[in-house]
Amino acid sequence: MGRNIHYPLIIVNLKTYLEAVGKKAEELAKISEKVSYETGTCIGLAPNFTDISRLSIFNIPVFSQHIDPIEPGPYTGHILAESVAEAGATGTIVNHSEKRLKISDIEVAIERAKEVGLATVVCANTTRVGIAVAAFAPSMVAIEPPELIGTGIAVSKAKPEVVSNSVREIKKIDPNVEVLCGAGIVSGRDVYAAIKLGSNGILVASGVIKAPNWENSLLEFAKAAADASGEL
Ligand code: G3P
Repeated sequence: MGRNIHYPLIIVNLKTYLEAVGKKAEELAKISEKVSYETGTCIGLAPNFTDISRLSIFNIPVFSQHIDPIEPGPYTGHILAESVAEAGATGTIVNHSEKRLKISDIEVAIERAKEVGLATVVCANTTRVGIAVAAFAPSMVAIEPPELIGTGIAVSKAKPEVVSNSVREIKKIDPNVEVLCGAGIVSGRDVYAAIKLGSNGILVASGVIKAPNWENSLLEFAKAAADASGEL
C-alpha cells in the first residue's frame, strides 16, 4: 500500500464535483486508504488542485487533474509541475477530455512531470491518439471515449474492442506503458471486464462520486479489479 502506484489501479477523478471538495475529499481519501488496504487494489484520487495538499497525508497516491506545459516563471493562473509535486502528488493526469492539450503541449507536460518525478496518466479519446501519446513514454495511457463519460454506459461493455485494441497497439509502441480505461464505469462487472480486456486499471468519476455509499462502491470496484487480475 502507500503512496506508490501499483496495479491494478483505480483512479477516482473528483473533477469539480461538489460532493468531493475539501473535507469531503478527505473523507473519500480515508475510505480509499481502507479499501485499498483490504483488497490489495491500489486506489488513487485526483482531487481539485486546492485539495492535493490536504490529501497528501493519506496512504494513497494523489494525482493532479492537469499540469500546464510551462517552466517556473511568469505564468499567472497556470498549473506548475513543481507546485503539484511540492503539494505531495504522486502523479498527474494530462490531456483529460475536459482539459485537452495540443500534442506538442502533451509532450512538454510529460517531460515537465518526469523532471519533477511525477507519474503521468495521459488520456486519449481514441486508440490512435493513445498510440500517438505512447511515443512520449508516459507511465500510463487512459483510453476514454468522451461520448461515454458520465453516461453509466461502460467503455468495457459498450466498446470492448476500443480497450483491447488500445492495449495491443500501445504495448507495441512501448511495452512499459500501462493502459487504463475509463468512461461510464459504474459497477464491479464493468471493472472486471476492463481488466479482462487487458487494461491494468480504470479511471472513474461519477460511478464513485455519485454513488449512494462510497465505501460500498469502492469495495465492489476494488474487489472486482483484484479478482480479475488474480485470474490472469
Ligand atoms: O476521468 C474519468 C472520467 O472522465 C470518467 O468519468 O463519470 O464516466 O466515470 P465517469
